[in-house]
Amino acid sequence: MAKPSIAILTSGGDAPGMNAAVRAAVRAGLNADVDVYGVRCGYQGLIDDDFIPMDAKSVSHIINQGGTTLLSARCEDFRTEAGRATAAENLKKRNIKGLVVIGGDGSFTGALKIAQEHGISVVGVPATIDNDIYGTDFTIGFDTAVNTVMEAVDKIDDTAESHNRLFFIEVMGRDAGFIALHAGMASGCSEILIPEEETDVKYLVSRLNDLHSRGKRSMIVMVAEGDQCGGVFKLARQTEDALKDMQVRVTVLGHLQRGGSPTCADRVLACRLGVAAVEKLLQGVGGVMVGTRNQQVVTTSLAEAIEKKSKPDEDMIRVAHTITY
Ligand code: ADP
Ligand code: F6P
Repeated sequence: MAKPSIAILTSGGDAPGMNAAVRAAVRAGLNADVDVYGVRCGYQGLIDDDFIPMDAKSVSHIINQGGTTLLSARCEDFRTEAGRATAAENLKKRNIKGLVVIGGDGSFTGALKIAQEHGISVVGVPATIDNDIYGTDFTIGFDTAVNTVMEAVDKIDDTAESHNRLFFIEVMGRDAGFIALHAGMASGCSEILIPEEETDVKYLVSRLNDLHSRGKRSMIVMVAEGDQCGGVFKLARQTEDALKDMQVRVTVLGHLQRGGSPTCADRVLACRLGVAAVEKLLQGVGGVMVGTRNQQVVTTSLAEAIEKKSKPDEDMIRVAHTITY
């Protein structure tokens, strides 16, 4: 009888720690005497039959690397039934029964579809810098991203203070304010604007003017990409005239937040979740996502992880606003 096989792919927006998760899943599979394939370019590689047999050495020296050595893609064909049927055929012809999908909620939506339509057992590993996935306290990549943002803001703060300037800094988070909230708190921002809260631009201006009149030289307002204000450039245009005696500057941190060597916390999380994903598959459990809650590995159905929204903790938001100045 052919040995059981599993496949691993990374999909959607890359996140630091994806490589550590791949490495962990490969090694866990090999240690359980399972044949392991890596699929290049996410779902595109499933459709294009781009599979690589993995051995223990194939994942050496990647735990510290950002990005994804398996490469990622946004794949329109996988959104179609025909695309998923081709993908399933390519898995089945190699006797691959289990698939580890490392990515965000879009990737999990695709994963659930191929599971339901073709009986492929899939386990999701949450990896996105946005941290916006239900069923885990943290996603792989978030810790690295917030540390990157914090370092960048510290640097901007040096020049802001020297020149008596106000900076609007935009960070990633299409739908969620986790990065802005955590990094904004950690870097001592004067205000933090996130999509989970209403943004009152008039109030913001009066508060910043008030802080300035009380002698605060420099200020940094951290703005999540998905905030209702519509982005930092619009916000700067809207407020510039009303912000008395302050020179306004804008910085969009952009994709630098997605790169870099993963932090220890992200590597450890990735190691735990990569192993857990393979263990679940080998136990015959599919259609779930692995994550951590209160330091323990837990599983959530993919359907629930996709459907429910993860929101920043209300007390975190309260604390952040309590100490901004
Ligand atoms: P992320 O996983 O980071 O949220 P995307 O939302 O871009 O990233 O999704 C990654 C890929 O998952 C898409 O390019 C597509 O191939 C697949 N995908 C996303 N949504 C669906 C869907 N509704 N049906 C099938 N596949 C999907
Ligand atoms: O990974 C999620 C994310 O970082 C979002 O916050 C951002 O809007 C998006 O990716 C941008 O991704 P891309 O440039 O790859 O489309």
